[in-house]
Amino acid sequence: MSKKKRIGILTSGGDCPGLNAIIRAVVRCATRKGWEVYGIPYSTDGFINLVKGKCQPEELRLYDHGYDIPGVLRGLDVLQFLSGSILGSLSKGHPGNSEIAKDIMEGYQLLELDALISIGGDGSMDIIYDLAKQGGWNLIVVPKTIDNDVAFTERSVGFETAVNTVTQALYDLTFTAASHERIMVVQVMGRDAGHLALHAGIAGGADVILIPELTPKLEEKVIENICLRIAQLRQENRKFALVVIAEGVKNLAGEKENYIGDSLAALIKEYSSKLCHQEDGDFCSLDEIDTRCNVLGHLQRCGSPTSFDRLLATVFGIKAVHLIEEERYNRLVVWENGSVESKSLDKVIPMIKWCHQEKICPSPVDSSGYMVQTARSLGIYLGEK
Ligand code: F6P
Repeated sequence: MSKKKRIGILTSGGDCPGLNAIIRAVVRCATRKGWEVYGIPYSTDGFINLVKGKCQPEELRLYDHGYDIPGVLRGLDVLQFLSGSILGSLSKGHPGNSEIAKDIMEGYQLLELDALISIGGDGSMDIIYDLAKQGGWNLIVVPKTIDNDVAFTERSVGFETAVNTVTQALYDLTFTAASHERIMVVQVMGRDAGHLALHAGIAGGADVILIPELTPKLEEKVIENICLRIAQLRQENRKFALVVIAEGVKNLAGEKENYIGDSLAALIKEYSSKLCHQEDGDFCSLDEIDTRCNVLGHLQRCGSPTSFDRLLATVFGIKAVHLIEEERYNRLVVWENGSVESKSLDKVIPMIKWCHQEKICPSPVDSSGYMVQTARSLGIYLGEK
């Protein structure tokens, strides 16, 4: 029987489906061992609030089935079904060596924690690692993000649900696009990575998928090729098209744009009309094309987690508790070759810090990988010039 422990858990960075499933797994597994679990509200701000007396340690204690549902559903364990985070989350910059960091250290000490589980993406992982080093904390990180861009793990919690959400949106948009013979441009999240756009684009039947790894910026040639693809479809008697663009693709000037999908929709309209007047016969149909853009936005971070995300979240949560039990600290839980493993944060973090410094995505789409090859083999246009 291992020594009883007091552990903390927090969620940081953008929320995603599956966070509560991780928390549930940790609380269930740890409390069965007789450990105490403390949920830190709003990430490291929770430590600051403790120091300021805005909350008391006992109020942060998490209990298995510590929530109440009325009527016949009393006692139902709902946590793994719910998206968002019961602890709240925070996307703030690095506190550095400031007063804020001092308060965070003090708050951590107040709770007398043996270890902390931080659920986050690579941005928050970088920050929490520095704080843990500064405070001598025993840290375990569990990766989550709809972007699936955390290095050293093939999957992060939340990605699969987001792929499903975007796939469903593409399916739904197909029918209105078809009814109005429109070119539907769909802007998908993913930060600097194209995993979400690529996976959902293939699953949702997109005709064009632009991702930053293959199309870092829009170029005239790319727009022209999209128009040619649309013309080709029209010749085959398909009057609508789905064009997916990842938010990380930059505009013609090489700048980031919040509504890059809108710009692309306008460019397709402009170029198609131009092209039609330059070319004979075959491209004339392009003169009539109508484009619309849908920015899917934060809906992509919503929805009940899929079964895979629930399982991944649960396996990751249990692994985090097991690592603490074995006192193997300072580790990132990862998904590798269909199984759960862990990596030393001392190896992971320097690479992540370097990527942040160089403004490089830590885990981009493999441009010659099987997903890209699959898309190409299906005839999906991926921005080739
Ligand atoms: O990292 C997750 C993510 O949803 C990105 O895909 C997106 O660019 C960003 O967060 C949006 O962040 P915010 O919630 O701050 O608008």
